[in-house]
Amino acid sequence: MTRVYNFSAGPAALPLPVLQKMQAELLDFKGTGMSVMEMSHRGTVFTEVLVRARDTLRRLLNIPSNYHILFMQGGAIGENAIVPMNLLGGERTVSDHVISGAWSIKTQKEAGKYGESRIIANADDGQGRFTYYPEPSSWQLSDNSAYVAICTNETIHGVEWYPSAELTARIEASGSFLVSDMSSHILSRPLDVSRYGVIYGGAQKNIGPSGVTFVIVRDDLLDRAQAICPSAFTWRNVADNDSMFNTPPTLGIYCAGLVFEWLEANGGLTEMAKINDAKAKLLYDTIDNSRLYRNDVQPTYRSCMNVPFFLNDESLNQTFLDGALAAGLAGLKGHKMVGGMRASIYNAVSMEAVQALVAYMQAFERQHAQS
Ligand SMILES: Cc1ncc(COP(=O)(O)O)c(C=O)c1O
Repeated sequence: MTRVYNFSAGPAALPLPVLQKMQAELLDFKGTGMSVMEMSHRGTVFTEVLVRARDTLRRLLNIPSNYHILFMQGGAIGENAIVPMNLLGGERTVSDHVISGAWSIKTQKEAGKYGESRIIANADDGQGRFTYYPEPSSWQLSDNSAYVAICTNETIHGVEWYPSAELTARIEASGSFLVSDMSSHILSRPLDVSRYGVIYGGAQKNIGPSGVTFVIVRDDLLDRAQAICPSAFTWRNVADNDSMFNTPPTLGIYCAGLVFEWLEANGGLTEMAKINDAKAKLLYDTIDNSRLYRNDVQPTYRSCMNVPFFLNDESLNQTFLDGALAAGLAGLKGHKMVGGMRASIYNAVSMEAVQALVAYMQAFERQHAQS
C-alpha cells in the first residue's frame, strides 16, 4: 500500500490511525454484526457515537455550556443561507459582511436573498487579490445589523485572522454579534468561542469527511428563525432533537468523533497549534528564502492551514506539479481562481509531509536555477 502526502484543500487528509480504526470496525461495529452505516441512528449504539463526538468536541474547544453543538448537512455553502434564515427578522433585517476573499463574498451574496447584506469592509485590491484583513477600526458597522459575518480563514486566498475581545465587545454593544465561517481552520488551535454568536463550517478539512456541517450556536440565538426556514435547517429543531431532527450523516459523525479523539490523545489544540505553527513557519520560510517561489499575503495574515504560492516562472507550473506527484506529493495545484500552487497543511498533514514538500521545492528550485 502506498499513501501519498496529501495537501488537498478539501476533502483533505485524515489521520491514518482514524482511517485504520474505521477499517478495523467497518464490518462489525462494536459487536453489532453490522457497520456503523447500517444501523438505526436512533438506536443506543449510534446515539452513543453522536453524544461522544459532541462531548469530545466541546472539551477540545472548551465550548461554554450556553452554546449548542449541531451536526447538520448542506455544507458551509448551505449554512450561508441557513444562517440568515435563522437570524434575520423583526427589526434586524440587515447582515453586515467583511470581505476577505472568495468565501466571504459567497456568504454576503447568499445572505442578500434573505435580507439586506451590507459590505462593511473589503480587502479586495481591485483585481480580486486578497492579502490582508481590513482593520476593524475601519469597519462601517450598521446600527441595526442582526449579525456581522466574517470568514476567519479564507481557504483560496490563504489569509487568516482572529477577532479580538475588544472587537467582539464593540459589536455586541451595537446589539449584534459575530458569525464566522471557520470551515478551514477550526481545531487548528485553541479558540475563544465566547467571542462569536455562531461558528460554522463543513467538516471536510480538519474534522472528517464531507457531508457533515458543524454549527456552534449560542443558546439565545436559537429562536429567531424566519417562517421561511426549512424545518430541518431550523437550529431550534436540530438542537431539541440532538442533531437528529432528520437522519444525520452517521458515517461522517462517527469519523468526526474519531478525529476528535485522535486530537485529544495527541495533546489537544494547544499541542496542535505548536505543530501547525512549526509546519507553517517551515513552509513560509522556504518560500521567502527562495528566488523561485512567492507568497503575496502580508505576514501577519498568512494562513497556517492554506499556503498558496506562485512560481516566478509560471511556465514551470505543470513540471512542478508532475514532479511533485511523482515524488508522492499530491493536491498541490492552486485554486483556479488564483492559479499557482497551494499546500493545505491541516492537522492531519504531518511535519514529515511538510518536510518532504520543502525538500522537493528546494531540489526543484536548484534544478531549474541551473537549467
Ligand atoms: C472557508 C470555506 N467556506 C465554505 C466552503 C464551502 O463549503 P461546502 O462545500 O462544505 O459547502 C469552503 C470549502 O470548501 C471553505 O473553505
